[in-house]
Amino acid sequence: MAIRKIVELGEEKLRKISKPVDKFDLRLRILLKDMADTMYKAEGVGLAAPQVGILRRVVVVDIGDGLIEMVNPEIISFSGEQTGPEGCLSVPGRSAIVTRPNEVTVRYQDRNGDEYEASAEGFLARAFCHEIDHLDGVIYVDKMDREIFDDDDYEDDEEEEEE
Ligand code: NI
Repeated sequence: MAIRKIVELGEEKLRKISKPVDKFDLRLRILLKDMADTMYKAEGVGLAAPQVGILRRVVVVDIGDGLIEMVNPEIISFSGEQTGPEGCLSVPGRSAIVTRPNEVTVRYQDRNGDEYEASAEGFLARAFCHEIDHLDGVIYVDKMDREIFDDDDYEDDEEEEEE
């Protein structure tokens, strides 16, 4: 188990375009394991490889229903709209209201290179969008409707969780 250092907003690596994974080898498996360990330690619900300084198209997500590993993920369709709170482990102590698609379908590969498609809605769809954005150097602050402040009276049933 290895906890990796999380790259924070302001560091250049977070803004780069990540490269596709072409080798489904031991290094990838170690990266996936370290990313999951790092996400759980930080109590996040998602993490993308650039957030640990690795510019490869790899994300992990766990919104409480088990770990999902996605290699070379791509959103192939989306629909609807949801507006709600969102945070990011690379932007500690901040959160914002962000509008995202309400349903997405993602095509991705697993750690062995096998191809899958996953459809998600609601918070899981939000998590997929947020993490896949990281692979193109996009952070939620680029598309937020507005920042949430401590004294904000915004109330929502959704918990604020950091991705
Ligand atoms: Ni994030």
